[in-house]
Amino acid sequence: MNHDMLEEIYTTAKKWVEEAGENIRSKINNPLTIDTKSNPNDLVTTMDKETESFFVSKIKGTYPNHFIIGEEGYGDELTNLDGTVWIIDPIDGTMNFVHQKRNFAISIGIFHDGVGEIGFVYDVMNDILYHAKRNQGAYKNDTKLEPLNKEVVLEESIFGMNHFWLCDNSIVDIETMQKFVKHVRGTRTYGSAALDLAYLAEGITNGYLSLSLAPWDVAGGMVIAGEVGVVTTDVDGNALDLLNKSTVISSNQVIHNQIIQFIKEGRK
Ligand code: IPD
Ligand code: CA
Ligand code: CA
Repeated sequence: MNHDMLEEIYTTAKKWVEEAGENIRSKINNPLTIDTKSNPNDLVTTMDKETESFFVSKIKGTYPNHFIIGEEGYGDELTNLDGTVWIIDPIDGTMNFVHQKRNFAISIGIFHDGVGEIGFVYDVMNDILYHAKRNQGAYKNDTKLEPLNKEVVLEESIFGMNHFWLCDNSIVDIETMQKFVKHVRGTRTYGSAALDLAYLAEGITNGYLSLSLAPWDVAGGMVIAGEVGVVTTDVDGNALDLLNKSTVISSNQVIHNQIIQFIKEGRK
């Protein structure tokens, strides 16, 4: 993607993200219609749908040859990442949105021929926008984020991860993961993969592990985190497949190698 095009798309997308966030804030106390999707805890609200359809109509109206992968299904059915693809999670952390009215984010990653060019993670209620353009650094509002601390060791690291790692699962023995959580300094469960990746980029956590995430959970955060040196792969160290669900391991390269080794011991 050429420089002028990148700048133009970034500026336009940023305006839409801010507009969508303003709309969510203005309706935060309105009654919600809540439905469930794959299971009783997989929630979706009218606001998730309204926000995604807002982006889809803006994108299709302004960039008719761009493609969209969106969680709520208003986008396209894609089998590859050719061309310019917007990967959108209108509300990442819907359970937090419903129960807490905070701790959720709008997440957008804009990819060109499979390469992450632009990322946004907007913490709507705190009005904090994490954003990045490839090779131009990552920002928290107007503040440039520092490159990741490469010195931090596993024992002094804080990890974003949820408790499903410690429940029976098809990926890794729970004893291995129990050893892992005792080995590291601490763990945090924020309930939004997008915010987890933004916090990692900001350096307030040192890693993020998830058993199963969809492309829209990670696309925006990956671009932002990548700009400060975060490496993101699946549990076996392979590049993420942004057309399908996958395990996710994110951290600096040194810790990343250690986690992969750690998990290898208990890998099923
Ligand atoms: C969820 C959040 C959560 C992660 C789940 C995701 P949603 O996204 O990112 O942190 O653990 O796997 O599904 O459903 O709130 O958009
Ligand atoms: Ca999500
Ligand atoms: Ca969502």
